[in-house]
Amino acid sequence: MIEISEAKLSLVKEIAGVEFSQPYGALWGVKGFKSEFENKFAHILTALKDGKVIGFISVRAVADTAELLNLAVLPVQTKKGAASKLLDAMFNRLKNLGVKTVTLEVNETNLPAVNLYKKFGFKVIGKRGKFYNGVQDALLMKADL
Ligand SMILES: CC(C)(COP(=O)(O)OP(=O)(O)OC[C@H]1O[C@@H](n2cnc3c(N)ncnc32)[C@H](O)[C@@H]1OP(=O)(O)O)[C@@H](O)C(=O)NCCC(=O)NCCS
Repeated sequence: MIEISEAKLSLVKEIAGVEFSQPYGALWGVKGFKSEFENKFAHILTALKDGKVIGFISVRAVADTAELLNLAVLPVQTKKGAASKLLDAMFNRLKNLGVKTVTLEVNETNLPAVNLYKKFGFKVIGKRGKFYNGVQDALLMKADL
């Protein structure tokens, strides 16, 4: 069973391990996650299976807006609903905080993520041309909560 819970600093290496296991990650690494844990606007949740971190989501919320900055699930655990559970839990938390809109940037070639976000109500509101490696476009997406 997949369990969603508040991310713990003690699990930062596992969290960074999930990030590195996937392409398209933000590549914060242990150092980046540690500094995110200290950011007062940050909300980080983990998906655990048998006590092991199999996914995470990291968002920053300020007033009534939030930005989804990082999300990944271990390759062997994908397509089992972990990211959906993470997004559900994060959306609930953000709604309780009074957040009204969530934005994000995603590589337009990253179809699993683009499909996931569309399923959660995100709509494309813009594009940044050749944003990734000077080649692929970034889609700017926004969801109303
Ligand atoms: C994107 C990612 C987080 C999805 O995680 P997941 O746990 O497999 O997602 P879920 O099982 O909850 O799937 C939910 C929806 O996402 C979409 N999706 C997930 N994997 C997909 C795939 N391989 N191909 C197409 N759509 C996919 C589908 O719409 C799916 O709904 P469905 O099951 O009804 O078809 C995961 O593939 C990942 O870690 N990718 C690399 C990191 C990344 O891209 N992060 C986002 C950066 S912006």
